[in-house]
Parts: sequence; C-alpha cells; structure tokens
Amino acid sequence: MKDLLERLTLQEKIGQLIQIAPFFYISDVDKNVFGPLLELGISEEEIFMTGSVLGIKDATEMIEVQKKYLEKSRHKIPLIFMADIIHGYQTIFPVPLAMAASFNEELVRKAARVSSIEAQTAGIHVTFSPMADLTRDPRWGRVVEGFGEDPYLNGVLAASMVKGYQHTGIDKKGNLASCVKHFAGYGLSEAGRDYNTVDISRLNLHQYYLSGYKKALDAGARLVMTSFNLIEGIPATTNKYLLRDLLREEYQFDGVVISDYDSLKETIEHGTSKDEKDAALKGIKAGLDIEMATAAYLRNLPTLVKENKVDVKLIDEAVLRVLELKKDLGLFDDPFKGASVLDEKRLVLSEQHQAVALEVALESAVLLKNDHEALPLNKALKIALVGNYASNKDTIGPWSWHGSPKDNASLDEVFSRYTAHLYVNDTCDIKALDEREMLNSDVIVVAVGEHRRESGEAHSKTNIRLSFEQESFIKALKRFNKKIILVLFNGRPLDLTPVVNEVDAMLETFFLGTKSSEAILMLLYNEANPSGKLPMSFPRSVGQIPVYYNHLNTGRPFKNDGNEYTSFYLDEKNDPLYSFGYGLSYSKFELSNLIIKNTIFNKGETIQLSIDVKNNSDIDGYEVIQVYIRDLVAEVSRPVKELKAFKKVMVKKHEMLRVYFELDDEAFKYVHPNLCYDSDEGDFIIFVGNSSTSVIDQKITMKEGSK
Ligand code: GLC
Repeated sequence: MKDLLERLTLQEKIGQLIQIAPFFYISDVDKNVFGPLLELGISEEEIFMTGSVLGIKDATEMIEVQKKYLEKSRHKIPLIFMADIIHGYQTIFPVPLAMAASFNEELVRKAARVSSIEAQTAGIHVTFSPMADLTRDPRWGRVVEGFGEDPYLNGVLAASMVKGYQHTGIDKKGNLASCVKHFAGYGLSEAGRDYNTVDISRLNLHQYYLSGYKKALDAGARLVMTSFNLIEGIPATTNKYLLRDLLREEYQFDGVVISDYDSLKETIEHGTSKDEKDAALKGIKAGLDIEMATAAYLRNLPTLVKENKVDVKLIDEAVLRVLELKKDLGLFDDPFKGASVLDEKRLVLSEQHQAVALEVALESAVLLKNDHEALPLNKALKIALVGNYASNKDTIGPWSWHGSPKDNASLDEVFSRYTAHLYVNDTCDIKALDEREMLNSDVIVVAVGEHRRESGEAHSKTNIRLSFEQESFIKALKRFNKKIILVLFNGRPLDLTPVVNEVDAMLETFFLGTKSSEAILMLLYNEANPSGKLPMSFPRSVGQIPVYYNHLNTGRPFKNDGNEYTSFYLDEKNDPLYSFGYGLSYSKFELSNLIIKNTIFNKGETIQLSIDVKNNSDIDGYEVIQVYIRDLVAEVSRPVKELKAFKKVMVKKHEMLRVYFELDDEAFKYVHPNLCYDSDEGDFIIFVGNSSTSVIDQKITMKEGSK
C-alpha cells in the first residue's frame, strides 16, 4: 500500500480519513445535500476523495454509491462501508444486555456470525460492535448495548462477538471487521446521564474498565472507536495516553482508530480545542485516524502541514492503516464484496437464521421469581393476557436499524397456539378489563415494560421503575385473586421493588428480538427451561446506584450487628433486589462438595477445583456455575468477589454432575498502584455458586514459590 500512498496528493490522503453518510454520494449534490454538504464545508470533488461511508440501506444503495464513487475517484480506492450492526441485521437477536444473561459465549458468537452474514449481503464491511463499555449505572440508557457490570463476563462476550463477526477472516465474503467501542470508560458517565463527565483514576480504569476492549482486541478486532467522554480531563478522541501510549504502545494495536459521531469537533464543546483547526491538530497528534461525520481534518490538516504544525508522517501513518484495512477486507479485488440483492433475498431473515435467534432468545431471559410454582403453565389453563406488551410486536429493542417489528409475532398471536381460552386486553387500565373474562381465567399474564426508545443512546432516566400506570395496574390485578405472571420488557435493570410482592412469578426478557414472543411462550410452558443469569444487579431503589456485586469492602463494612458506625443507609438495604449472576430455573439445583485439589499453591501454578451439581427435579435444565475469588490482602483494596470463570452445564433430571475448573495465575492478578499487572502471594477465598450470592467458599493460599 505504500506505493499507492505515495501517489496520493495531501488532499487525497486526508480524504481517506473522512467518513460521511451515503446520501452525499448519490443525491444530486446541487439540490438535495447542499444544506448538510454546506454545513460539512466540503466540495463535491472532496466527497469523491473520502475513505468510508457511515451506514447503508441495502445492496442496491451500496452498489450505487460504490459505483458512483469509483467513477469519480481518481485513484479508484474503494470506499469502506461501516454500520451499527449491534445485535443483528434484519434477524434481530436479543439486545446485548440480554445476550449477556445467557452466559453462553458460543451463542453470542453464533448471533454475531448470523448478523455478519446478513449485513454482508448489503455490502457492509465493518460493524461498530461489540460495545464493551463496563456499566454499573442503569440510569444510563446505553447499558442495553453492553454486557453488564462484570469485567470478566464483559471480556469473554466481547471477544466472542469479534470472533463471530470476523470468523474465518475479514477478507472472506459473509464476514465483517469488528470495531470495538467506546474507547474508553464511556459507561462511567456521571449520574448515568449520557455524554456526561467521566472521572476515574488511571488505576481503576486499568483495574476494571479496559478488559472488555482489550479482550476484543486480543480476539482480533480491527478497529477501535473513541468515546465521547473525557479520560483524565482530556476527550478520548484526542487523548494521546489512550490512543498512542495505551493502544499503540502497550496493546500493540495496529488497526484503525475512528472517532464517534462528531466527537472530534465536540472537543470544542469540551473546551479542550479552540476551534476545528485545533481539534484537527490534537486529533492527528493523539492518534485518531478516521473522523466520523465531520470534516475538521479535511478543512484544516492541509494548512497545519503547510504551517509545519503537523508532520505529514502522522497523516501517512493514519492513511496507511486505512488502506491496509481496505486491502485486508479484499476491497481492491472486489469493491462490491458481499453486496448482492440475490443473497439478501436468500439469506436475510432465513428460517435458519430465525432458528438461531430463537435459540439465543431462549437462553437470554431470566426467571426472577417463581413462587408456589406459578410457572410453568399448562395448556389446560385459561389465560388472561393483559398489559402494553400483550399484543405489541415491538420487541427488537434499540440499535436495530435494519430490523422491523413487523417481522415479529406478538405475544397474543403465539399464546393462542398454547391455550384454547385466551382473553387479551393490551392496556394497563384496570377499568378497561372485562371483569367476567378476568374472573373466568385461571392465570393472569401481565406483559409490561419500557418502550424501546426509553433506553439506548441519549436515553437516560432518573426514574428506573415501571410507569406509575403500570405499577398501579399490576397492583390492581390482585383483586381477581388469580396467579399473576409478570413478563418484563426493558432495556436496563429496573427498580421492581414496588411490584415484586404483587406477583407470583417474574420473567425478565429485556428485548429478545425477532423471536421474542415464541421464546417467551416456550419458556412459560416449559418447552424450554429458563437458564438466564443477571449480568447487572437490579437495585432496590435508584438511590442505591451504583450498586454492583464486585464492590470493595470499605473500612467499615455493614455487618448487621447493631453497630451504627458502618457503611449502610438509614432507609434502604445495601444489597440489590437481585444480584449479578442470579436467575432461577424450573429445575431444582443443589450445589455441594467443593473440592480444591491444591489449597496451598505456588504462584504461577494452576488451581484445580470441582463442585457437584444435583438436579433434584423432574426437569432437565441448564445451570451456570460461577467461580469467584476474593484477594484478602493486596497493595490496593480488592473487591469482595470477582468472577473468574463460569460454565453453563446441562444437568438431567435427578442426575448429579461434577463440574471441573482450572484457575491459572491470570485469575489472581490485579493492577498494582504502579499499574503493573501481576499476582501476589497471600490468602484468597474461592467462591463457587449459581449466583454471586449463593456460593460455597474455601480459603486458599498462594506462596511465592521457587523463583
Ligand atoms: C453514535 C454512537 C456509536 C455509533 C455511532 C455511529 O453516536 O455513539 O455507538 O456506532 O454513532 O452510528
């Protein structure tokens, strides 16, 4: 690619670092796009020097844009087409927060695989996924896009997504290059308000927040997207420590760094850039390659080079990375790679893909409560299905641009295949219900939750309860004196305290995508046994936030021993309503007999352990066995628990399974005050359980061992 680079003018080089929307290439420049084009401040000639496209509708549009571009581009350097394929293309999978609940990295990989096959038929080459931001604040709307509060689970699943997208190589048709985002620490937006300030120590950034991105890069992600937020007072998009010292030097990342939408120009709002020229200077020096949606680079880098403020070498490095990506994507051989109207018809929303979506949805729901065995239902029961999701098909959640609720079945449609007697009323108005029908039913299923636009980007909330109307409706249903099953649709952990005691069972479905209704019915009737576990704590109240399982002990931990001078609230408990890793099954699992082969071991040795899992029921079921550690004494205060391994195992009815784990030194390492990542000798506790709160524990000791 160096020879091609040398043939480019400075303007053409910089053009490769600009990413704009597709309409700029195909609309009549003089008429339709003069507004945005004028605002962007670039000429028609410069449009045909740009390097990549943000978003595309389908194969027809992609082919039209690429053709028009290659006709007008001097060097015929193909455009890269990038898009947000976050949890599916047209076959929509559960939102990432729900997929995280599956604790099944193989399923997450499969979902990413299908997503890339479908997206590639539109000629998309890069997906802005996985979102690997660690999230501990459910007020933040974007928790829906991530994998929750635990660094280990976040890393495992982010890596799985990358492998699913990139599969056998990004040059192959059907595969996508993965862009991990938002680098870094975006999930720490203060008070859960999107785009808000982030302030975190470098120690804790390394300790907890970088693992998701790093594991995605270790899995081969070819791009990194910078985040809107500050890190140590400097916007990530122009943060040299993040983009050069960490990404390039420490991680040895040689892929492409792209800004988030407008985030380079927004450094002016942040007050760290004087104007676009200053932003362009800071961006290229910090190591930003592609500027998304704005043209500060195009408009200012030529002058900065002329003024000797920017060494053209920096631009050459960035452009070379973009050209290398295009080569590795195979675009010089086939600029239209993947784009095929025929394949769109053949592959998109295929039966096979929908079967995978159902498989993933079945493992992504979490059974939170099931008193008096209210569930599973049987087909003889007469059902009253009520609430705003009783016949609402819109279960695809946020960030599902190419998908459509019209591809979904609604709950009532599917319910009618399971019961001969179904009364449906899709309101949350108790007065609108038919009293006779309600009294004539055996069970009430109330399906309520957030609209999909109550979470996702720019959709943060200070109130994370169901609406007042929904809460009142649920409480009012008790008058019918029936068993009540609550089915929840939401893009974040909710404060369910007001309703938890009003219902007999609760199934948390988040947004399960195209096959949501089929999955929910199969779970309600035990054609599939719930197996999901919470990837994020559900608080008792918004006042507890942030509340997460892997918290520090503090110097005055609450011990409920009457001592008031400890860390607690006067008006609320410390623990969440539902903890990380929690989820019920129709099976009755019993864990026992934790055996740790070497409770005293040398640093660097592997710990072998096993635990017995008994299924004391007539129902086969999956259980997620989780292994946590606690480092009792270290150079910095360490969490009371940290997930270090998990296995999802099938235990047949009335059978017992011995589950084995090996923990290597990686499980005991942590970031020291000098940022070195290593393990120290000393005492640890190992916890093994089927949630972060129901565990069996044992002490172990690491010796320095022979040097
Ligand atoms: C948005 C989001 C980012 C997305 C990008 C392109 O603002 O922050 O996640 O990938 O713009 O749509």
